[in-house]
Parts: sequence; C-alpha cells; structure tokens
Amino acid sequence: NGSVEKGDFMTVENKSFSRLTDRWRICQNCRIGRWAFKHVFGRGSLPADIVFVGEGPGVSEDVIGSPFVGESGQLLDLAIARTKLEGRYFITNLVACRPCDKEGGPNRAPTDREVENCSDRLQETIRIVNPKVVICLGKVPEKHLAEVKWLKRYRTYFMYHPAYILRQGGAKSPLFRQFVNQLRRAFRNAKDI
Ligand code: URA
Repeated sequence: NGSVEKGDFMTVENKSFSRLTDRWRICQNCRIGRWAFKHVFGRGSLPADIVFVGEGPGVSEDVIGSPFVGESGQLLDLAIARTKLEGRYFITNLVACRPCDKEGGPNRAPTDREVENCSDRLQETIRIVNPKVVICLGKVPEKHLAEVKWLKRYRTYFMYHPAYILRQGGAKSPLFRQFVNQLRRAFRNAKDI
C-alpha cells in the first residue's frame, strides 16, 4: 500500500518529491546549508493522510539524511505503533539543515531567518504530501506555524516534541500515554475528514 514500515527510513518514490529534493539539496541560503552533511527532507508515505513537522535535523539526522532517526524518532515511531491505527504518514521538519552556530557545533533551535528561508520548501513538501492533518511537534514549530495562512487548509494539531517527552521520563511517563492518545485522535480524524 506504499506505506513505510516502522524502522524503515526510506521514502516512497515520488516524482514531485524527487524534483523538490533535487532543487533544495544544493540550497545554501543559510550558513547551515553549507555546513550540513545532508539536507534532510522527509521520510514516510507519499501521499499521506498525516504530516508531522518537527524542528530541524539533529546530528543523527544530518548523518543519515532522514528526519527523526535518533532517540526522539524512536519514541515517535513507538507512539505511532502504540496507536494501533493504520495510517499513512510523512515526517519532515521546519528546516532541512541541522541548526548550529559553527560547523560541527552543537544543535540549537532554528532562527526566524532560517525558518523563513526554508518555508517554501516546507509548504511545497506539504502540498506534495497532500495530507488531511498536520501535527506540529513542540514549541518551535508552534511558534512559527500557528498563524500561517496556507496551513489553515489542514486540520492542525500542536503536540509535545518527543525530545520533551524523553526528558519527562520517555515511554513510561504519563506524558507519553497522553501523546499516544492525542495521536490516536488525530489519526482517527484524518480518516473521518
Ligand atoms: N528533532 C526534530 O525536531 N527533528 C528531527 O528530525 C529530529 C529530532
């Protein structure tokens, strides 16, 4: 059915998405584009009912070239599995390159300018995925996307970032259970729309 198995970081072949990645993988509109080992565009099904939007790639994502492949990603995959609902989803980030202040420096949140420079890429990605539901993970995507006009065509949810849930105790925490319940509602909604 074109969906991606858990733990599989591949993205289903899609011509429009290949064109997008061909165009954006050479982007150096920000310094972080020059420093990136890999520009990170997304993983999952194309099209999909649900898009997750995270903050930006971390070290693992920069190396592998796929979003949410580190500890946060494992928790996200586990939460999706725990919903026990079939749903095609796609995962991307506000920015395609790992935000940092110098080459090889520690991760930080993307700046307003970096988010702005990457917003056409994000908008085009979501247009290609053509979802019913968009799930923003954490405060940073919420800050940048809550008032964005083009996003209002989709039912949008704002949820915890998996990294925050990890800091609060991870898969055994009440927050994780809450997150799974919210996801289940969003997945059900995507089916009903
Ligand atoms: N955190 C994010 O916000 N995005 C990733 O891709 C990985 C961790």
